[in-house]
Amino acid sequence: MSRILTGIQSTGTPHLGNILGAIIPAIEMSNKEGNESFLFIADLHSLTQIKNKEELKHNTYSVAATWLAFGLNPKKTIFYRQSDVPECTELAWYISCFFPYQRLKLAHSFKDKSSRLQDVNAGLFIYPILMAADILLYNANYVPVGRDQLQHLEITRDIASRINSKIGDTLVVPEAIIQKNTMSIPGTDGEKMSKSKNNTINVLDSKNEIKKIINKKIITDDTPLEKPKNPDTSTVYKLYSLLASKEDSKIMHNKLKVGNYGWGHAKKDLLNIIDLKFSKEREKYLYYMNNLHELDDVLLKGANKARKIAKETNLKLRNKLGY
Ligand code: ADP
Ligand code: TRP
Repeated sequence: MSRILTGIQSTGTPHLGNILGAIIPAIEMSNKEGNESFLFIADLHSLTQIKNKEELKHNTYSVAATWLAFGLNPKKTIFYRQSDVPECTELAWYISCFFPYQRLKLAHSFKDKSSRLQDVNAGLFIYPILMAADILLYNANYVPVGRDQLQHLEITRDIASRINSKIGDTLVVPEAIIQKNTMSIPGTDGEKMSKSKNNTINVLDSKNEIKKIINKKIITDDTPLEKPKNPDTSTVYKLYSLLASKEDSKIMHNKLKVGNYGWGHAKKDLLNIIDLKFSKEREKYLYYMNNLHELDDVLLKGANKARKIAKETNLKLRNKLGY
């Protein structure tokens, strides 16, 4: 049996791109038999960027509620908040003493973030060490991540190998599973949807809020209502076809090509499909967001399971280090 582990940053409410590109595929994978899976919300990593108590809490709850609303089964997956497992920061210290400072200075993500962000704190610099601790704490075999996280996995493997060769086999050297992410969901401006581009559609918001975003922000051309339009270059059509059945997509494609069907009509159809498609998830999401104690309960149960394993790893290491 393999142990699969991954972490998700809690930097905001998940949008349609996150849901179709990451959350739904990950849940499908975790529901497959035979693997033992760990999924956690990396809220300690979020502290490198978020210093507001309410925002930090809200993001974590919102991410947890979204994963549960889309069908994550906490009986099958150990689902927890990173900050509920203090063993993680303890391990981060031990392993940091085995990794050369000069190597950490080469990390791309720090170079990138330190050139973009105003708050260039030491936490950002040691981010990869905390991430390595997240993984090594549970002897994970496989870590599904996006391509941008590959270097962090290399650092993790390097740390585990260095420690094993210094003090004898102690840690499992994990392997990355690169999510090819064939999907690139467009945002309201037609570019890849991303929180940082302010072009997201938050499908768990109310119908009214989604309506405002669709009507005000999705860019269309000024072809008059009666004239034919090109569906294949249209963001409204692209988004609609990602959610609607093949038949319904074909119908919209035809209507746009024929004419007498305006962008306003297409936007209305897009709104209706979003509303219909995610109504069950929206209801569950709202239920959790109105019952935060249930989220806490699920996450704390997950953390208790995680901590049992985490404590064993740290104990093994402490013995070997002389504590
Ligand atoms: P954002 O760009 O909004 O900050 P993240 O970088 O936090 O999103 O991505 C979280 C996950 O969601 C990653 O696995 C990423 O590949 C996926 N994802 C984000 N945006 C999209 C998108 N537009 N299309 C498909 N997948 C996406
Ligand atoms: N750094 C990852 C990201 O930005 C999130 C993360 C933190 C993570 N710890 C992890 C991913 C451990 C995999 C394993 O997406």
